[in-house]
Amino acid sequence: MDTRISFFLTLLLLCFLPTPSSSRSLATTVRCNKNDYDALMKIKAALNNPYHLASWVANTDCCDWYDVECDSSTNRIISLTIFQANISGQIPDAVGDLPYLNTLVFRHITNLTGTIPSTITNLKLLSMVRLSYTNLSGAIPSFVSQLTNLDFLDLSFNQFSGSIPSSLSSLPKLTVLHLDRNSLTGAIPETFGNFQQSLNLYLSHNQLSGEIPNSLGDVDFTTIDLSRNKLQGDASMVFKANGSTETIDLSRNMFAFNLSNVEFASNLQHLDISHNKIYGSIPETITGLDLQYLNVSYNLLCGSIPQGGKVQNFDSYSFYHNKCLCGSPLAACT
Ligand SMILES: *[C@@H]1O[C@H](CO)[C@@H](O)[C@H](O)[C@H]1NC(C)=O
Ligand SMILES: *[C@@H]1O[C@H](CO)[C@@H](O)[C@H](O)[C@H]1NC(C)=O
Ligand SMILES: *[C@@H]1O[C@H](CO)[C@@H](O)[C@H](O)[C@H]1NC(C)=O
Ligand SMILES: *[C@@H]1O[C@H](CO)[C@@H](O)[C@H](O)[C@H]1NC(C)=O
Ligand SMILES: *[C@@H]1O[C@H](CO)[C@@H](O)[C@H](O)[C@H]1NC(C)=O
Ligand SMILES: *[C@@H]1O[C@H](CO)[C@@H](O)[C@H](O)[C@H]1NC(C)=O
Repeated sequence: MDTRISFFLTLLLLCFLPTPSSSRSLATTVRCNKNDYDALMKIKAALNNPYHLASWVANTDCCDWYDVECDSSTNRIISLTIFQANISGQIPDAVGDLPYLNTLVFRHITNLTGTIPSTITNLKLLSMVRLSYTNLSGAIPSFVSQLTNLDFLDLSFNQFSGSIPSSLSSLPKLTVLHLDRNSLTGAIPETFGNFQQSLNLYLSHNQLSGEIPNSLGDVDFTTIDLSRNKLQGDASMVFKANGSTETIDLSRNMFAFNLSNVEFASNLQHLDISHNKIYGSIPETITGLDLQYLNVSYNLLCGSIPQGGKVQNFDSYSFYHNKCLCGSPLAACT
């Protein structure tokens, strides 16, 4: 065949070839909302087009992309979840342009740095925010408390510093708050007594100091983990007979109070008060608990260890290094 004719035929063929399915779907079956598409493309560009987001291809339906989820009836993006990615950069301001988002997760991303962008306050429907195992830094911004639908806030394993914003306790639906494994300083805010819901509170591995507010006695904690800080004084208010508390971890602080008269919630399963300056004796009522973990070691406790229930399931390492505790599993009282 004449090469000119064959060239011409090829050209003709190309013109009538069906367009790639991607651009065809944009014209017909595309679900992705145009504004969401634009926001996601901005996010991808701001993160320097990482390999992790290779499925976010221009002119394709964003409801088919990885790491995002579209609502099945509105087709709006409701979830952005980026996990274990080799991404270097900051959380893009454009996340604030996804107004239907209820879940925002950046997790296990070593090179994610910078602060939390204030644009997230546009995301009034957010119920879960999980920015953890990243290298975010600076203060935890108080504008987070404008996200009034938040149920779950996890900012753990970062480099956040400064004090805890007292306004977080105004979040009316919060049931899980993870601020552990940062470099937070200062005291636990007095307002933390205002949480209305049962709360799982994790503040461990920071440098929080001072006395904890008495108002914490007003909160129904399911979990309270204050371990590995520099807290001192009384913590007996977190022990309540009528609460739903399952876990209390006060270990490795400088708490000093008399344990003799505390009351245990019947749900209490995990109790670690080790490495403090807690004195008095262990209440007999501890034998009524379904304990899975117990550690009162390295304190100033005295008297006989209550016998019975689950208490003797734990060996001497749960009780040693006290002032004058005695009885099984330690040496008999004399
Ligand atoms: C983080 O950034 C450093 C330096 O730019 C790079 O060498 C490293 O591969 C990145 N690591 C990850 C897991 O992103
Ligand atoms: C992360 O990505 C950078 C840039 O693409 C690359 O040089 C580096 O090797 C990657 N690191 C890891 C741990 O994959
Ligand atoms: C934060 O960055 C440091 C230094 O690059 C790194 O060693 C560390 O693993 C990072 N932290 C997290 C949680 O990724
Ligand atoms: C426990 O009792 C205290 C004092 O009587 C009360 O203020 C609090 O609301 C009660 N908490 C629960 C969870 O019932
Ligand atoms: C702790 O309280 C108990 C009961 O009120 C009391 O008998 C005891 O003397 C107190 N212990 C210390 C060391 O103050
Ligand atoms: C209790 O805590 C002490 C001090 O940290 C530790 O040595 C011991 O192993 C712990 N006991 C248990 C049962 O974990």
